[in-house]
Amino acid sequence: MQIKIAPSILTADFSKLGDVVKELEKCGADQLHLDIMDGHFVPNLTFGPPVVASLSQITSLPFDVHLMVEHPEGLFSAFATAGAKSLTVHAEACTHLHRTVQMIKDLGIRAGVALNPATPLSFVEYILPDLDIVLIMTVNPGWGGQAFITTMCEKIRKLRMMLKDSGSPAELQVDGGINQQTVKSVVEAGANSLVIGSALLMERDWGQAIEQYRSLAVEAARDSWWCSS
Ligand code: DX5
Ligand code: ZN
Repeated sequence: MQIKIAPSILTADFSKLGDVVKELEKCGADQLHLDIMDGHFVPNLTFGPPVVASLSQITSLPFDVHLMVEHPEGLFSAFATAGAKSLTVHAEACTHLHRTVQMIKDLGIRAGVALNPATPLSFVEYILPDLDIVLIMTVNPGWGGQAFITTMCEKIRKLRMMLKDSGSPAELQVDGGINQQTVKSVVEAGANSLVIGSALLMERDWGQAIEQYRSLAVEAARDSWWCSS
């Protein structure tokens, strides 16, 4: 089972964004997690397709785009053109979630669905075979640097069980409050894709930190109930 480390640049110094992205690539990140906020679904605002398009000129890291946006469908094609390799929408923001997921897949990119901490797994139960990524929010979306919600480990465990039962190869991603203390428990529970924001960016040596996160995660997966390889 491959472990993916996806740094989030949300708490980076945006005046140096290009350098940050190049450095994260050099330091061994597997993909780059880009947090898009619209000021409606979440109170905060970030950036849109033009920034993503500029970043795609300076890195070959795959872009994992997390849309914390109401009515996200109108943005799909702009983000795909800008270089997104996956688009993850929030179940809470999409009335016709199955159709929304098909729209992403029709663009030839990977489709993900994110669930807020209070949203039950049943929101994705019947569309699991269509998903490439299920993102369990381990904080309430909107800001970096928040504390991990510990009850999410049980949700991760239940989702891993659902993925196993349905034979789905979807990535089980976690986002929010992942640090050296929490990484082990989320991977033991079933996560294999780790979004890491502030805890990584505040380190002085990102290469060493990514290596550390990877080895903690690989070790936790090896000892876990869910991972057979
Ligand atoms: C929160 C975002 C996260 C955020 C995580 O709404 O979706 O991707 O950057 O940041 P940390 O790791 O600091 O909790
Ligand atoms: Zn995110």
